[in-house]
Amino acid sequence: MMKLGLFGYGVVGGGVGRIADGRDDMEVGRILVLPHEVDVDPRTVTNINDILTDESIDTVVEVMGGIHPAFEFVSSALKAGKNVVTANKALVAAYYKELIALAKENNVTFRCTAAVGGGIPWLVNLSRVRRVDTIESVWGIMNGTTNYILSSMTAQDVDFADVLKKAQELGYAEADPTADIDGHDIRRKLAISVGVAFDAAVEEANIPTFGIRNVTSADIQAFRNMGRTCKLLAYGQMTPDGVAAYVEPTIFTNDRLEASVGTNYNMISYKSNNAGIQSFYGQGAGRFPTAYNVVSDCLDIIAGEDSFYTDKAEPTALACGSVSHAYYVRTNVCDEFLSSITEEKGEGWVITAPVSVEKMHAWAQKQKEIDAGVFFAGIQ
Ligand code: HSE
Repeated sequence: MMKLGLFGYGVVGGGVGRIADGRDDMEVGRILVLPHEVDVDPRTVTNINDILTDESIDTVVEVMGGIHPAFEFVSSALKAGKNVVTANKALVAAYYKELIALAKENNVTFRCTAAVGGGIPWLVNLSRVRRVDTIESVWGIMNGTTNYILSSMTAQDVDFADVLKKAQELGYAEADPTADIDGHDIRRKLAISVGVAFDAAVEEANIPTFGIRNVTSADIQAFRNMGRTCKLLAYGQMTPDGVAAYVEPTIFTNDRLEASVGTNYNMISYKSNNAGIQSFYGQGAGRFPTAYNVVSDCLDIIAGEDSFYTDKAEPTALACGSVSHAYYVRTNVCDEFLSSITEEKGEGWVITAPVSVEKMHAWAQKQKEIDAGVFFAGIQ
């Protein structure tokens, strides 16, 4: 019988507790909570040492979130000889390599499937295909909040701020929803995914990222007229110069699967040399979908799974200068750069010739200083 120590008992932790309580192959021993939460369950403790020194607990589930003190707590658990399962993408994006090294040193296992795609078995399948194939690219809709906002704006004429509020009420959004709408949440998931796909440790903060804060109903109407649908896309590809990884709004033709991903659903795909394109669709957030993936990781440990998604994670350069495509750009201040790449003009917007991702993101960051409402979307 696997005995769990939970670090955190919030939305996901509570879900893990509920699923584990209904099983006969695992049980929750102790739950680390903040002092004001002790009454939520008779198994709560407030001192981490009560879990670290409890020899009957073999596996820690970290669902407290944030980077610190989660990193220190998870490190202590690994050093205490406990397997660790986490759903914490911020922690994994920042410290994957260190945590894997600690797990190896202490002969324990580290699993983090729920960190990307919530309830979707994405990382496990990405690591499985890697046993046979070489991955060419990974991409996807990996943030439910922004997909909910964009889908709602596409389906009806609704205001950005109102839809964001609804997404928060439905519990999809991060505590600070700017992490969703400015693309930082999806960027973390991309950093972890390219790490596993390409054995690459990339600096999350350096990934060119443009969110959906500035999208307007007029943009959405223009996309409708073009027969396209806008999604916030994370994309990663191995190139001879390094990993081209970026996050940007992207307009897909309406016949693409991505265009049909509605409400808060996620869809994540890879393309590899033998398997070709495989896509994984489901709930990327939420109590029970995410808890499902955490419990599945625990079952993998029970079954003796002791490999990591990748144990290489070599520091790798970002190479967004080597990939190019056309863009939709809306700004009220057209400059020489934009004029030089404009191929088609609409009402307040232009379509560009193919331009490198690096150049477009660099231009847009500067452009924000003179036009705070500038918006662009890659064209696929
Ligand atoms: N805020 C995230 C989302 C939660 O909307 O997808 C899951 O990471």
